[in-house]
Amino acid sequence: MIVLGVESSCDETGLALYDTARGLLSHALYSQVAMHEEYGGVVPELASRDHIRRAIPLLEQTLKGAGIAPQAIDAIAYTQGPGLAGALLVGSSIACSLGLALDKPVLGVHHLEGHLLSPLLASDPPEFPFVALLVSGGHTQLMRVDGVGQYELLGETLDDAAGEAFDKSAKLLGLGYPGGPAISRLAEFGDPLAYKLPRPMLHSKDLNFSFSGLKTAVLTVVKNSAAANVCEQDKANIARGFVDAIVDVLTAKCVAALKQTGLKRLVIAGGVGANSQLRAALNAAAAKKRFRVYYPELEFCTDNGAMIAFAGAMRLSINPQAARREYGFNV
Ligand code: KG4
Ligand code: ZN
Repeated sequence: MIVLGVESSCDETGLALYDTARGLLSHALYSQVAMHEEYGGVVPELASRDHIRRAIPLLEQTLKGAGIAPQAIDAIAYTQGPGLAGALLVGSSIACSLGLALDKPVLGVHHLEGHLLSPLLASDPPEFPFVALLVSGGHTQLMRVDGVGQYELLGETLDDAAGEAFDKSAKLLGLGYPGGPAISRLAEFGDPLAYKLPRPMLHSKDLNFSFSGLKTAVLTVVKNSAAANVCEQDKANIARGFVDAIVDVLTAKCVAALKQTGLKRLVIAGGVGANSQLRAALNAAAAKKRFRVYYPELEFCTDNGAMIAFAGAMRLSINPQAARREYGFNV
């Protein structure tokens, strides 16, 4: 079965073809980051319009990459939500129009399920069950995953998501959008002893998170640092203080979730999963506590069409009736 995946929930247009027999056939992605950069964040209307512009060329590219004709597609999976309404509507419209034109069934996929299953696209995928840390721009969740569709929420953020904390703290430091990679790079030059920022809910005895206090702590040190007219090095020190704090909390909660569930496999998914400091800390914890940690390929940490094609294919493998031929736009 060949499934076309369409991702358009935010500022990335992703198309991909996944074959349940042969694996990922091809994928294509266009990131709108450069367009939104000058506004310091995603402008929803611009995002929707750009998805419209990019989708068909990306589809052609994906079909060409896979060497198949449109009729070879068996089903079309698209991101149903959560995300920006206008942007989601574009992906949904494209999927439904293609379904109608090709007489193929369509299937709405939950964006977070796409992220959650993306590590299974790797060459050495984890077996079920596992604990998953889902860290994206909009969500921070710990889950027990027993199979496709068998998800138990163990804990989540009570306020900001981890990616949001990265982006907002980066903005306070005057770094560009998206801030996650920028603050991470700057932190490499920072002194780890200069700023000891709070580690919210580190000892809360549950698996929930809270990052808004950490963002406020960054705001306070940025203000004090500006008032004292401190040099550029101080920015790097603050970045380092922030990254160390958030990585400490994420790592400790993952270890606690493994302890609580008795599982030995940890899977990281979502944009923040690309973070090198987080990966280093988790790898060190895995060696010490004897568990195994799995990551998606770097290109599949942030939004992409491959994870949607894959999640759609997994859903259809379990329940072929999951896709429908009623092409009402449903986001
Ligand atoms: O999963 P994703 O592409 O989109 C959502 O579904 O939200 O995640 C985007 C988030 C952004 O907040 C971005 O700053 C963050 O992932 N991110 C990173 C890194 N790469 C992306 N955060 C920290 N370090 C990175 N290397
Ligand atoms: Zn995402």
